[in-house]
Amino acid sequence: MSKGGPRWFEARWVARLEQYNGAQTLRDPGSGHSFAVQRLCPGRGKCAVIHPKFARASRTGLCQGVRVATMLVTGATGGIGRALVRLLDGRGYGVIAVGRNAARLAELPGRPLVADLRRPETLAAAVAGIDRLDGLVHCAGFVRLGAVADIPYPVWAEHLTVNLAAPAELTRALLPALRAARGRVVFVNSGAGLRANPHWSAYAASKQGLRALADSLRAEEAGSGVRVSSVFPGRTATAMQRGVRAAEGGEYRESEYLRAETVAAAVLAVLEAPDDAEVTEVVLRPAGAGPATAGPATAGPATAGPATAGPASAGPAT
Ligand SMILES: NC(=O)c1ccc[n+]([C@@H]2O[C@H](COP(=O)([O-])OP(=O)(O)OC[C@H]3O[C@@H](n4cnc5c(N)ncnc54)[C@H](OP(=O)(O)O)[C@@H]3O)[C@@H](O)[C@H]2O)c1
Repeated sequence: MSKGGPRWFEARWVARLEQYNGAQTLRDPGSGHSFAVQRLCPGRGKCAVIHPKFARASRTGLCQGVRVATMLVTGATGGIGRALVRLLDGRGYGVIAVGRNAARLAELPGRPLVADLRRPETLAAAVAGIDRLDGLVHCAGFVRLGAVADIPYPVWAEHLTVNLAAPAELTRALLPALRAARGRVVFVNSGAGLRANPHWSAYAASKQGLRALADSLRAEEAGSGVRVSSVFPGRTATAMQRGVRAAEGGEYRESEYLRAETVAAAVLAVLEAPDDAEVTEVVLRPAGAGPATAGPATAGPATAGPATAGPASAGPAT
């Protein structure tokens, strides 16, 4: 939960906010207390930001029925996940931060939830108490490079389990809570989810499967109010990219990659997209990375490769 900053409330959870008419304050006739409204949410028209001073009062019971919009983020201890958890917390959202390392989760804001995505069968029990959820962001990921000739089965299994089966199972378990809140699901994918290059087969297969999962889910939930998006970042300056560059035998040049905070901001924009829009796919590449034809893989930028060498530029099919 936020340790400072404003908190965001959705109108439907604030009993008296339905009467909101643009005034600077709201009065709760039940308690007689007034709430200072700082501004309306830029994304989801029905939200208001209430000054934290009053939000604290509300948590002591002065305003019954107030509920902070809550987002669950996997991979919360990773580069992009950590940036997103901090961004969401700073915006006043309630955050459930999922990771497998309790000590590192404890350094983050939000409510920690320890789970190992190599064991999807444990996930439904882990989230059993969540009955409303405004956003689910799948940010955890695993990558090991290698030629098909060399990748042993356990490495294939870990890619497909952590990057694909676990997000599917977690989504399944949380769908009732997401439907109840007409929530958003965001899959943090990769350039490898759009094209597969040598030595990226297992990761690319898992991420292209993740795109398929998102597409099917979007179509299935069209009538439920749940919105589903895939975000495809290029190379991003995190521990994962350090490992990738080491495996590629290349230099890690942080200034040439996206910042984790930039990717997190894109995910936030998707989460806060107005209700009349469904953001299906967002492709992010480091500025100046060159044309997005078939280049080196993946988690990374498509540099200029021969246009015939591979499919799929960054142009997603919606
Ligand atoms: N960095 C890039 O260049 C890049 C580019 C495109 C897409 N992406 C995607 O962006 C997402 C975030 O990546 P990142 O760059 O932030 O990588 P990162 O810093 O390595 O973070 C990866 C996160 O996934 C978690 N994770 C991995 N295996 C797990 C498991 N079995 N159970 C639970 N959590 C597990 C890690 O937990 P631990 O901290 O415990 O290891 C960590 O929190 C991933 O889906 C990745 O595929 C990254």
